[in-house]
Amino acid sequence: MKKFAVLGNPINHSLSPQIHLEFARQLEISLSFVKKTVPLDSFERIVSELKNDKFYGANVTLPFKSHAAKIAQHKSNEVIDTHSANTLTFLDDYIKADSTDGMGLLADLENKIGSIANTKILLLGAGGAANAVIPALYQNHINQLFLWNRTIQKSHDMQLFWSKKYSHVVVMENIDLANIDLIINATSAGVDSQVSPIQINTTNKDLVCYDMMYGQKTPFLQLAQKKNLTHFDGLGMLVQQAALSFEIWHQMKADTNKIEAELRLTI
Ligand code: ATR
Repeated sequence: MKKFAVLGNPINHSLSPQIHLEFARQLEISLSFVKKTVPLDSFERIVSELKNDKFYGANVTLPFKSHAAKIAQHKSNEVIDTHSANTLTFLDDYIKADSTDGMGLLADLENKIGSIANTKILLLGAGGAANAVIPALYQNHINQLFLWNRTIQKSHDMQLFWSKKYSHVVVMENIDLANIDLIINATSAGVDSQVSPIQINTTNKDLVCYDMMYGQKTPFLQLAQKKNLTHFDGLGMLVQQAALSFEIWHQMKADTNKIEAELRLTI
């Protein structure tokens, strides 16, 4: 039986074991999946303990995604670009790192609103979560990416970095939603504090608001709801990124159709 863990701090809230065990049940795979709280200075030690205990893989969540990227000897292109990994595979001679966050977001958006090709997207935030999804957005040929962050200098730094690789990356210093099709909130506002990172002032009824957080409705999504805008939390992204990790580990595609609704009843 292959052994897996999800690593983070805090980790109690994690739904990863539940999701992976459900996929395993569907596909008749036998596996174990545990939550491990990692002390802030002990990521490397815990990973080597898992390797010694013959774990096959681990999902990694906050605040260790950049540590996971660093520790691996083999990295996917997304990991190289974003310095962030959420999926580790422990092979005999090396650790492999993948990042399924961006493609997970994309799969969820595809399910919920269809293709994002040619859209104009405003991405809120400049931390690991925001940076991790940019390659996936460009893989889907978006028209333009606007960056906004509370500390706007970080958006300029991000713009400088990503515009070497992608075109049409622009900093939006003052929020103007006139031409925006989709806002993705990748800030931790709503966890850290009960505020929306931006006000949503628009007459565009087709604007879609997506928050990468899940659990209770964030202030950002509450605003979107008040404006009668189509809005989604990040639970679907969580399920999709888990399905992609599952595929990396087991080379099998899980059915993600029902699990989001089932999880919603438990959170
Ligand atoms: P993560 O890896 O999850 O992205 P992070 O690197 O700590 O976490 O980044 C958190 C992001 O949320 C940052 O963009 C942060 O803005 P600052 O760079 O200005 O700190 C943003 N953020 C956190 N609380 C916020 C709030 N109340 N309003 C707006 N943005 C907020």
